[in-house]
Amino acid sequence: MNNAIRAVHARRIWDSRGRPTVEVEVSLAGGARGRGIAPAGTSRGSNEAVDLRDGGDSFGGFGVQRALANVNGPIAAALENIDAEDQERVDRTLIQLDGTPNKSNLGGNAIIATSMAVLQAAAAAHGSSLWRYLAGAGPTVLPLPEIQIFGGGAHAGRRTDIQDFLIMPLGAQSFDEAMVMAAEVYRAAGELLAAKGSRCGVADEGGWWPDFASNEEALGMLVRAIDKAGYRNGEVVISLDIAASEFGSRGRYKLALEKRELSTAEWLEMLLGWVKRYPIVSVEDPVAEDDPDGMRAFTRAVGGAVQVVGDDFLVTNAKRIEDAAEAGQCNAVLIKPNQTGTMTESKQAVAAAKRLGWGTIVSARSGETEDVMIAHLATGWNAGQLKVGSFSRSERMAKWNEVLRIEAQLGAAARFAGAGVLPMRGKPS
Ligand code: PGA
Ligand code: ZN
Repeated sequence: MNNAIRAVHARRIWDSRGRPTVEVEVSLAGGARGRGIAPAGTSRGSNEAVDLRDGGDSFGGFGVQRALANVNGPIAAALENIDAEDQERVDRTLIQLDGTPNKSNLGGNAIIATSMAVLQAAAAAHGSSLWRYLAGAGPTVLPLPEIQIFGGGAHAGRRTDIQDFLIMPLGAQSFDEAMVMAAEVYRAAGELLAAKGSRCGVADEGGWWPDFASNEEALGMLVRAIDKAGYRNGEVVISLDIAASEFGSRGRYKLALEKRELSTAEWLEMLLGWVKRYPIVSVEDPVAEDDPDGMRAFTRAVGGAVQVVGDDFLVTNAKRIEDAAEAGQCNAVLIKPNQTGTMTESKQAVAAAKRLGWGTIVSARSGETEDVMIAHLATGWNAGQLKVGSFSRSERMAKWNEVLRIEAQLGAAARFAGAGVLPMRGKPS
């Protein structure tokens, strides 16, 4: 059997924060090879698959020697001779071998990099690009991008409480045009910040590291940047990743920047005020992961007019997505493969969300590498949306540029996801 797994090998490489991470290479009997690299989050949900780190003094405790040993030892042995095209069997084998609900035994980082590498090897054995292998005969729509302009929260020394101030170029007719719009707004925002004397470099995902006196000041400047770049009437709109678990718990929200502590109700009133006053079409993790009532209240209050995305709240888990829908929480999910730990479980989360008519956004982590796999996943799974960070730093640009290549490969058949991929009832104009 040409597609039988012959060898699985892990090595230590380094991520965009200069921390160690796990790279796995898989080779098949017929000679095809695939590679997977584990990304790493900072604002992590507590129900995510666990990254196995060595602890101790080296690399701030972020070493991955134990994870590498798990790949080179038990994982390599368990996968030998399994058909790489049978991804479900591969992932089931990994899950059973680990034997914990959160992959803490072998390590989520060891498992996801292996799962990714097997999928890449299977696509390579077919001689096709990953996106084409995944899409098969199904539709391929190039994703609507969410591009970070200002980075805050845990990615920028908590310079703002809110983590990501992003834009969505709803007026673009193609992915290529969406990138042009992103470039113009990113540049305009940088110029406005520089003119004000508050440009302090870039944050972990490449967005401008700002110096604002309040969270709302960032929103005001983002609107000005969109205007300065020449976009009008909803051509470019705003998306926020609040990442509220970073500053809220047990129904209390501590806004350090504004030196205020709010109850869930007071915090939601503030957030809903922003949604009313600014062109915001998408809000991710508006409340903390331990605040399901707050999530329900926010989802109900925006009444289907805003995409409400669960990240820490749903951790790419199909069951959690179904339960949240039942409870009236969220109408979209962030898909981060390393939150759940395997390709099969990630795909199941996409499928569950799609059955519900939800938005699905394939997302990078704040710790990334040159790996461009998520560009292929977003297109091949027909997710509709893609979030990889800002418009600088090559670990971000590599992903945007890869979608441009996929768009070119599709040629005349290329279709770009516009506002239609958002799960709202009345689509934004
Ligand atoms: P993380 O953040 O990768 O640091 O967890 C990204 C996000 O919250 O979307
Ligand atoms: Zn998030």
